[in-house]
Amino acid sequence: MPVLQSSIESGSEACRANREAYQALLATLRARQAHVVDGGRERAIERHRSRGKYLPRERIDMVVDAGTPFLELSTLAGFGQYDDEVPGAAIVTGIGIVAGVPCMFIANDATVKGGTLLPASIKKHVRAQQIAEENRLPTIYLVDSGGAFLPLQDEVFPDKDHFGGTFWRQARMSAAGLPQLSVVLGGCTAGGAYVPALSDEVVIVKGIGRIFLGGPPIVKAALGEVIDAESLGGAELHTFESGVADHIAYDEPEAYGILRDIVAGLNQPGIAAPPHAPGPPLLPPESIGAVIPHDARVPFDVREVIARLVDGSELQEFKPRWGESLVTGTARLHGYPVGIVANNGIIFAESALKATQFIEMCGQRRVPLLFLQNTSGYMVGRDSEIAGIAKHGAKMVSAVANASVPKLTVLVGGSYGAGNYGMCGRGFQPRFLFAWPNSRIATMSAQTAQTVLVDVRRGGLDAGSVDEAEIEALRREVGEQYERQSDPYYATSRIWDDGLIEPGQTRDVLGLCLALAARAPGTPGPFRVFRM
Ligand code: COA
Repeated sequence: MPVLQSSIESGSEACRANREAYQALLATLRARQAHVVDGGRERAIERHRSRGKYLPRERIDMVVDAGTPFLELSTLAGFGQYDDEVPGAAIVTGIGIVAGVPCMFIANDATVKGGTLLPASIKKHVRAQQIAEENRLPTIYLVDSGGAFLPLQDEVFPDKDHFGGTFWRQARMSAAGLPQLSVVLGGCTAGGAYVPALSDEVVIVKGIGRIFLGGPPIVKAALGEVIDAESLGGAELHTFESGVADHIAYDEPEAYGILRDIVAGLNQPGIAAPPHAPGPPLLPPESIGAVIPHDARVPFDVREVIARLVDGSELQEFKPRWGESLVTGTARLHGYPVGIVANNGIIFAESALKATQFIEMCGQRRVPLLFLQNTSGYMVGRDSEIAGIAKHGAKMVSAVANASVPKLTVLVGGSYGAGNYGMCGRGFQPRFLFAWPNSRIATMSAQTAQTVLVDVRRGGLDAGSVDEAEIEALRREVGEQYERQSDPYYATSRIWDDGLIEPGQTRDVLGLCLALAARAPGTPGPFRVFRM
């Protein structure tokens, strides 16, 4: 396969500035992620530990196979929302390997609002279940939750993808042969009781795990019965009398040993070896920092990124001389085949057609697709309309929507307008979608939005009644709004992606995603490849 050559001059002033800006981006990302793990809630953590309990990531560490990677999802969900009091949205989700089997973990963080579920927590929980279902992963629930966050009950209880949707998914996944396992490590009150109750197999830890439809205060109010939590729904009761739980453990480490033994007996597939021998890229992935311009408005050649992601920096490009604002080609990543669709600027009619044909080919050949987004969208203007950009863009969007092979998307730069759709944004349901900390996502850039909205306002006013000060205020307001809302932290907080990842770690993250995709590869069809 042809090897990509770099034209980056690593000693240049521009590269130095890029690297500096990149280090600052990484420092911010790492600090914010560290805060989610154990920051800003020392008292709650101390109280949690004083009960002999572990933090959710420590729990996951005790379950997964030593030395294997754990891919945490949406670490910064809830960031900047809820008065900044809900790090990680009070829940940890991610994929880890247990007894050789990749599993989805959904673990409540009881040190954040008692592990209750706020709107962002429910969204994160549902998203983890969707990923588990699509990738055929058993799900492990480490339950330590006060259930619904009651002050926001209208935003977590009644709608399709709210609390009820999590139980619906549990029941459906179990029926689809995807094991649902729970370890009860805290309260499972009211609706929360259904997490273990709907699981195939349940471990409960004596002294800390409790399951009941109504806690002691409710029982007192309803029946006048005074009872402590352990007697009402503790481990002894549920493993000896009710049978709601299947295994008792006397501390957390013992529970995780039992859980690992259960997973070992699930008869679920592990991760198979890749079809080709993997090899590192010729250019180190960590050197991506020199490629990303410190000024987001400056374009960069996406081949520089691809060269730092794929095995041997090898790319078999498709139509390299046609529709050049989009790069398409096949490569291998950690030994897995992948078809890459990557922006190199605005999407023109030709680029859209090239992408369409390439996506169809990958679909028929069962080659998973990787979209690298960095575009301001589809080309506008009379020439472009004459060229039929709307119908050609629609072909690309249709090809993306209908290709049944696994799709992965990474926002490596801008993700604007319909470019987001054609390049497999969230609405097009890629198996995984990650973003880099330098990315931006919005209908349009702040500058364009200012122009559009100021023009719309002017258009609605008589020429004599235009108040320039008011127009200026509008321009400022729109600029501020678009800057704030297109920030990657704003996006990841709302779970528009599955997490912000470090550019230098992207190759390994994608390698794991492709390994999972290989277990559930999709089917070709229904049409042959149409030449564009
Ligand atoms: N809704 C909103 N907030 C809740 C909550 C709920 N269901 N349950 C607990 N919280 C909040 C508390 O207000 C407190 O918030 P703060 O940190 O801002 O002060 C925090 O979670 C910790 O609660 P606390 O009771 O101090 O901690 P705990 O570890 O002793 O007990 C629970 C945790 C979850 C076992 C206990 O709070 C509880 O039983 N909550 C009610 C559960 C319930 O009835 N849920 C109904 C779901 S439908």
